[in-house]
Amino acid sequence: MRIRKAVFPVAGLGTRFLPATKASAKEMLPIVDKPLIQYAVSEAISAGAEELIFITGRSKNSIMDHFDKAYELEAELESRGKRKLLETVQEILPPGITCIYIRQAEALGLGHAVLCAWPAVGDEDFSVILADDLIDGKLRPCLAQMQRVYQEYGTSVIATQQVPREEVSAYGIVETQPVAPGLGEIRRIVEKPKPADAPSNLAVVGRYILTPRIFKLLERTSGGAGGEIQLTDAISTMIQEQTVLAYEFEGTRYDCGSKLGYLKANVEYALKHPELADSFREYLCERVAEWNSRPRLAARK
Ligand code: G1P
Repeated sequence: MRIRKAVFPVAGLGTRFLPATKASAKEMLPIVDKPLIQYAVSEAISAGAEELIFITGRSKNSIMDHFDKAYELEAELESRGKRKLLETVQEILPPGITCIYIRQAEALGLGHAVLCAWPAVGDEDFSVILADDLIDGKLRPCLAQMQRVYQEYGTSVIATQQVPREEVSAYGIVETQPVAPGLGEIRRIVEKPKPADAPSNLAVVGRYILTPRIFKLLERTSGGAGGEIQLTDAISTMIQEQTVLAYEFEGTRYDCGSKLGYLKANVEYALKHPELADSFREYLCERVAEWNSRPRLAARK
């Protein structure tokens, strides 16, 4: 049992990163030297995906170009003897992986984006990855961790994480019945509740393994929170028919849909980067020492 198809909803406008995202895709923002979408794609491939389905929109052509062959660039690198860089470019997509692009003409929400993937997914279980949520899995990538759960239980699995109470209104929030450590069956799921109404502080993060039943349910789902067709609402119906598991992944998630999360991810990945780690650490230490040696500003009245 392997999930062969991965869906990447990438049609969002990325307004939080304007003006950087005015003419280009937010998923192409780099974490050190790789765009966010490349991390998401690598995660899917390492969990066994062979078919990548991108749900795109306007200003997203750079995503297609990124995963396409770049003849002129490759010829140029070859002729200049830049073998290492040539490999870096050629390794973006391993052989045997197919990319499918579907245009989401209207921004009707995550649920609608997933529904757009139906013709390409067909009648098999599939995964959904939100590239904004960059996850550094502890021992293995988040989707590969979820795939193990899927193999054991054969049902839908959704990645979750505990978040502070005051942040619950930014997420889908689940209430679960424990199954095993870090694993629970979803009893209730609510999209972006107010802290007072939230059933828990266990939040859905951007990784889902779903059965194709979700498509039929999405078809019937009307506008929910923010007037959008919410994936969460369709999952809420699905739990009445099928088991859906909430899995607390092991690792660290960076919310790269926010500027602060994006900056944190860049710092952490730079500190792990083979060419940059030492010099960047040195720079950060100098900067912190300089900061600490400055007299503290008097507290403002
Ligand atoms: C989406 C989902 C939400 C989930 C979140 C994870 O929200 O609708 O349930 O918790 O992704 O990042 P968005 O962040 O797109 O508003």
